[in-house]
Amino acid sequence: MKLISGSSNPELAKAIADVLDVPLTSVDIQRFRDQEIFVKINENVRGEDIFLIQPTSAPANDHLMELLILIDALVRASAERITAVVPYYGYARQDRKTGGRTPISAKLVANLISKAGAHRVLMIDLHAGQIQGFFDIPTDNLFGQPVFVADIKDNYSKKDRGNLLFVSPDTGGVVRTRAIAKQFNADIAIVDKRRPKAGEAEVMNIIGEVEGRDCILYDDIIDSGGTLCNAAAALIEHGAKSVTAYITHGVLSDPAVQRITDSVIKEVVITDTISQPEKVKNCDKIREVPVSTLLGEAIRRIANDESVSKLFG
Ligand code: R5P
Repeated sequence: MKLISGSSNPELAKAIADVLDVPLTSVDIQRFRDQEIFVKINENVRGEDIFLIQPTSAPANDHLMELLILIDALVRASAERITAVVPYYGYARQDRKTGGRTPISAKLVANLISKAGAHRVLMIDLHAGQIQGFFDIPTDNLFGQPVFVADIKDNYSKKDRGNLLFVSPDTGGVVRTRAIAKQFNADIAIVDKRRPKAGEAEVMNIIGEVEGRDCILYDDIIDSGGTLCNAAAALIEHGAKSVTAYITHGVLSDPAVQRITDSVIKEVVITDTISQPEKVKNCDKIREVPVSTLLGEAIRRIANDESVSKLFG
C-alpha cells in the first residue's frame, strides 16, 4: 500500500500515515505561472495499491483539479488500484436540479473522478448517501458518528447524558440525527428551516419539546454558520438550557467564525476532514476531533479486502 497526499489537508494525511505506520509517498505539486497545476510522483508506484488523500474543500476547484491530475499521473505510472480518499466531498450539496437549466454538479464531479481513473472512493458523512449512486465504481461512505459518540461520552457524565436532546437543524438531517440519538436512548427535535435564497437560512418552527434540555445540534456541514446559529438562537428562545453542536465538516466560510463567536452556542465540535486556518484554530468555541484513526482503519480494511461496514458494528 502507498499513501499519497494532495495539498488540501497534509496534516490529516500525516496523521493517517502515523496510524497505519506507512510513510507518505513523496510528491511534488507545483504551479505554472498561469496557475496550471503540475505534479510529479517521486517514487515508483507500478503495481501498487494507492490511497490518495485529498478532501475537495475550499478552494474547491483547485483541490478537485489537483485530485484529478494526481489520479491521472498515477494511472500513467501504472498504479494497480487507486482509491480517492475524499473525506469531505465538495459540490455534494448540488445533488439535484434545483430549477430549470441548472446542473447536478455532484454527479459531474463523480464522473470526473471516475473518468480520471480512480477505482474506488472513500468519504465521510457524504451530504446525501444516495450520491454514492452517481459513481459506477465502489464507494465507502464512513460515518463520523462513532467519533462524536465517543466525544460526547467523554464530555458528559452519565447523569448529564440523560438530559440530552439531539436536534436536526433541518429536515434533511433527521435520519442522521435519529441515528446518533439512538446511541444515547435520547429524543430528537427538528428545526423547520427554509432558505429564502442561497446562503441564507431562516427558522420557521421547532418540532419537539426543547424546554430545559441540553440540545446537541447535529449536522454534516457548517458553511456560513447561518443554519446552525439561527437554529441555536431559536432553541434558546424556546427554553432550551444549552446548545452545543457536533458537525462533521467545518467548511466555515466567512462569516461563520464570527457568527459562532457571537452566538448562544456553547461549543461547536468539528472533525479534521478539512484543514483549518489559524482563525478557526484560535476560536475558543470551536474544537476539532480527529478522524485519522477511523480513516486509517478503513484504509487498512480496504487494502486487506476486509469488511468496512464492520467498523460500525
Ligand atoms: C444543508 O443541507 C447542510 O446539511 C448544512 O445544514 C448547510 O450546508 C449549512 O450551511 P450554512 O452553514 O451556510 O447555513
